Amino acid sequence: MNNLYEKKIYAVFGNPISHSKSPEIHNFFYKLYNLNQKYIKIHLSKKNFLKNISFFFKRGGKGANITLPFKEKVFSLCHEITNRAKIAGSINTLKLFENETILGDNTDGIGFLSDLLLKKIVKRKFNILIIGAGGAARGIIYPLLKFGCNIFITNRTFNKAKILSKEFQNFGNIESITLKNLNQMKFNIIVNATSAGIFNNIPLIPENIIRKETICYDMFYKEKNTNFMKFCKNFGSNKVFNGIGMLVNQAAHSFFLWNNIFPNVKKTIKFLTKKKIKKNNKSLKY
Ligand code: ATR
Repeated sequence: MNNLYEKKIYAVFGNPISHSKSPEIHNFFYKLYNLNQKYIKIHLSKKNFLKNISFFFKRGGKGANITLPFKEKVFSLCHEITNRAKIAGSINTLKLFENETILGDNTDGIGFLSDLLLKKIVKRKFNILIIGAGGAARGIIYPLLKFGCNIFITNRTFNKAKILSKEFQNFGNIESITLKNLNQMKFNIIVNATSAGIFNNIPLIPENIIRKETICYDMFYKEKNTNFMKFCKNFGSNKVFNGIGMLVNQAAHSFFLWNNIFPNVKKTIKFLTKKKIKKNNKSLKY
């Protein structure tokens, strides 16, 4: 552990964390730009997690990513919080300044939008259906509204979709829509922002909302072809994507915050998709 801090050290904190690909992504960025930095993953106990993140910074950590289930719980560590993190209600990036103050930011939403833009699959005024009304959905709404898209939120528990859409109504065109009424609308992009994929499930949506030209995007990234992606392909979409692009783009925006360099995202995605995911990927425990 001591030797670690001789380099500029960054980490992702979560529980669980073994699945995280962030170290592979950031360590690839360091190679690309020849930086003497190291990025590790840290399994954080749910007890005393704020103290343990503070300890990391006291030991010389320069920045961190925060993942589930701590994203909504680290606001009190920050001396300054970006607008987009405040609006998303969650923080996925911490940056330590030289004066020892900490900035909290959220790069999930901008990472998602950047991926859509890089893929050239989004336009202003597009109708985007977001399935799910949890943290993942909440994180992407603001940048999409700001970009000028019309957002529709649906959810198994409809009331949550209603509450979420109300919360964002001052930022642009957003409304909630029941699963039953989905087939009355035409969507350009359908995003799976549910956690159904964790158990290899898919949200129950009417298949006739999927057309050949409908862009289907699964934010849940576990394997190349998720069940949601298979479902969308089966029902005719020929533009189906997994969340790897979002993952790399949110990492790129965090890296930019820390190093003031925007890394080559395309090269990184190529590297990740070629590389067989290493099993036995060890993490530190705090
Ligand atoms: P996250 O932070 O990952 O978004 P969350 O806040 O627990 O996680 O939210 C999970 C979302 O996935 C919710 O919208 C949930 O629907 P409910 O509000 O009805 O619980 C949705 N979800 C999870 N499993 C699902 C399933 N099998 N089918 C449809 N929606 C599902």
